[in-house]
Amino acid sequence: MLFSLVVYVLFSVVMCQNDNKTILTRKLPDGMKLGVASAAYQVEGAWNVADKLPSIWDTLSHTPGGIKDGSTGDDACKSYEYYKRDIQMIKFLGVDFYRFSISWPRILPSGFRNKISDDGLKYYNNLIDELLANNIEPIVTIYHWDLPQYLQDLGGWANPMIADWYVDYAQVLFETFGDRVKTWITINEPKQIGLFGYGMSYLAPRLNAHGIGEYLAAKHILLAHAKAWHLYDKQFRPHQKGTIGITIATDFRTGMTDSPEDILAGSEAMDFEVGLYAHPIFSKTGDFPESVKRRVAERSKEQGFKKSRLPTFTKEEIVFIKGTSDFYGFNHYSTRFYTRNGFKSGMYPIPSYEDDLAAIYSYKDYKPAAIVHCTEIPEGMRLALKWVKDNYDNPPVNIIENGFGTLGGQQDYDRVKYLTRYMDAILDAVEIDGVNVTMYTVWSLMDNFEWANGLSIKFGIFETDYGNSNKTRRPRMSAFWFRNLVATRILDPYRETEFQKLEF
Ligand code: BGC
Repeated sequence: MLFSLVVYVLFSVVMCQNDNKTILTRKLPDGMKLGVASAAYQVEGAWNVADKLPSIWDTLSHTPGGIKDGSTGDDACKSYEYYKRDIQMIKFLGVDFYRFSISWPRILPSGFRNKISDDGLKYYNNLIDELLANNIEPIVTIYHWDLPQYLQDLGGWANPMIADWYVDYAQVLFETFGDRVKTWITINEPKQIGLFGYGMSYLAPRLNAHGIGEYLAAKHILLAHAKAWHLYDKQFRPHQKGTIGITIATDFRTGMTDSPEDILAGSEAMDFEVGLYAHPIFSKTGDFPESVKRRVAERSKEQGFKKSRLPTFTKEEIVFIKGTSDFYGFNHYSTRFYTRNGFKSGMYPIPSYEDDLAAIYSYKDYKPAAIVHCTEIPEGMRLALKWVKDNYDNPPVNIIENGFGTLGGQQDYDRVKYLTRYMDAILDAVEIDGVNVTMYTVWSLMDNFEWANGLSIKFGIFETDYGNSNKTRRPRMSAFWFRNLVATRILDPYRETEFQKLEF
C-alpha cells in the first residue's frame, strides 16, 4: 500500500435534517456507476516538460495579476510525476471510474497534428494502463479548457477553423487510446469556455468581448463537438464500441417568485445558460433556443448591428449537430433565482449576454458558500435533472461533476452534508421523477488548481499539501463518506463516518 496509517480514528455522524426535508436511508439504483474527476491543467503540473508548449492557462497564470492568489499550475498536484499515487487513492475509494482530461498541448504541442508528442502519448498510455490494471474505468475528457496558446493566437474558439483543428486532435486520441477508452467526453462546459473566457474575463483567454465572443465560441464549440461525434460514430465506434457525449454545466435557473414574469425570467435564463448549448444537440428541432434567438436579435437591432450578434447555423449544420451525444453529460453545483424586477439597461455592459437576458439574479437567503457557485440548494439538483428529462426526451444522464468548494480543513462536515443532500435529491429525481441517471461523479478527487481562484479554493475529497514538494494527499472525512457509499450503496445520513489520518 502506498499510504501510511498515522495514529487515530475519529467518528462523526452528519445529521442531514434541514428545514424542508428529513433525509431517509435509501439505496442507490443498481445501474448507477460512481466515480471521481479531475482535469489535466488542474492536477498535472509539468507545464513545460518534454516538448509541451504553453496552453492559455500557462499564459494566464504566468501573467501578473492573472490568478487571484498569484499561484500557477506549474506543479499543481504533480500528477504527471505521481499518477500512480492518484490511482492508489482512487482504488482506496473503490469507485468504478476516473474521469480525467487530456492536455491538448501535451499531445500536439502547437495544437496541430503535424507533430505528435511521444512523451505526451506515453504519459496517457501509462495512466490508462495503470487504471485498467487496477480495475478502474478511464473516462476521458478530450478538452477541459487548456487550449494550446498557439491556437489562441489564431483566434481560438472564435475562429471557425477550430472545428477542424479540434477534430484532428480528437482523432489522434481515438486512434491511440480508443482501444482502451470506452467513454469520451468531447468538451467540458461550453458556457464556461465561451462566456467566461470570451464574453467575460473570469477565465482564460479573458477576452471580455461581451455580447459577441460568447456567441461565436458557442457556435464553434457545438460544431467542433458534432464533428468529433460524427468521426467517432463512423470510423471508430464500429470496432471500438464506446460512447461519446458532451458535458454541459446544468446549474438550475428559476424564477425569484411564482409570478408569471419571474417564471418567464427563470425559464429564459435556463435557455441562455443551458439551452444555448444543449438545445442544438438534444432537442427535437435543433438550433439555438427561440428565446435566445429572439432576444439577441431584438437587442442587436436596437443597438445598430446589421445582423443579430448571435451567429446562425445553416439548415445542414442544424441537422449535423442534432442528436450528437450518446448521453447528457451533466455538471451541477447550485441554483440561481431570476427576476426582471429591478433590471435596468446599463447595469451590465452593452452589448452583453446579461443585457440580452435582461434579468437580475440572487441566491435568495441560502447560506453563502466559500465559492458562490457552490451555494447549497439541493432541490435545484432535482429540478435541473427533471428539466433535462422533460426538455430532451429522457436521455441517459451522466452526472459528470458535483462537488463543494471550501477554504480547507480535513474534517469537512460541510462537504459531507452538501454531498449527502445532493445525492438525496438525485435519488428523488430517479425514483420519483423517473430521470435516467447512469453515472455520478464527485468533483474532485483532490484539491487542485481551481482556475482563476488558484490554489485557495479546495474541492478535493482528498486534501493536497501544496507546501510539501511531493504534494502529499490526505483523505478528508468526505473521502471516507464516499468510500462507504461506494461500498454499501446505501445513503445513510445517520451512519457514523469513520475518519483516519492517512497519507498518500
Ligand atoms: C469545472 C471544473 C471546476 C469546477 C469547480 C467546473 O465548472 O469543470 O474544472 O474546477 O467547476 O469550480
